[in-house]
Amino acid sequence: MNQHLLAPSILAADFTKLGEAIQLVNESEADWIHVDIMDGRFVPNISFGMMVTETVKSIAEKPLDVHLMIVEPEKYIETFRKAGADTITVHYEACPHLHRTVQQIKDTGARAGVALNPHTPVHLLEDLIEDIDMVLIMSVNPGFGGQKFIYHSIPKIQKLKDMITVRNTSTLIEVDGGVGLQNAEKLLQAGTDVLVAGSSVFRAKDPRQAITQLKGIERE
Ligand code: DX5
Ligand code: ZN
Repeated sequence: MNQHLLAPSILAADFTKLGEAIQLVNESEADWIHVDIMDGRFVPNISFGMMVTETVKSIAEKPLDVHLMIVEPEKYIETFRKAGADTITVHYEACPHLHRTVQQIKDTGARAGVALNPHTPVHLLEDLIEDIDMVLIMSVNPGFGGQKFIYHSIPKIQKLKDMITVRNTSTLIEVDGGVGLQNAEKLLQAGTDVLVAGSSVFRAKDPRQAITQLKGIERE
């Protein structure tokens, strides 16, 4: 893929004006809307759930990229699909039967993503890479927006890209956490297909311009 995708994360939006934030993304060059679901168990924070996802879906004109940071995600896959998720990403660390969970996501018709925490090596996906539509490399410890980017994520992306090239799969690489103009070019050069951006879009002085800039970066 030549042109990378951009998925603004609404976690960083002003929740009193969530509708306006979605409208802004609708009218922008952004590709997906990233929706962070946190349960206070898998991660030490609680965000929002299916009702907010459904509300976002009702006005969204872009696909919803739902990132489940929850334990036992297999219990909620159908619910989030019904709420409007187009991509459903579960965490490797939360799924003892990951192969089954990935099939369960695909059976709903959604795109299946698997997220890796910063300490989880990419080689653990070797036996599953053909089945996964997207791998999400967490470049911060999940749970909060606005954290500092973990630099080690870059060699991880390169390793993952090599694995995908050798296996000749069409798996997308998404990067989430601390992404902004300061590191986007490096991330794209390493092999990233989808940039998630929370604070760097919604906390920017001009979110529209931030989206345009993040979309405008060339891979080489
Ligand atoms: C963190 C979430 C991210 C978060 C990114 O646990 O998964 O999607 O919204 O926020 P920033 O871009 O501010 O690091
Ligand atoms: Zn996320």
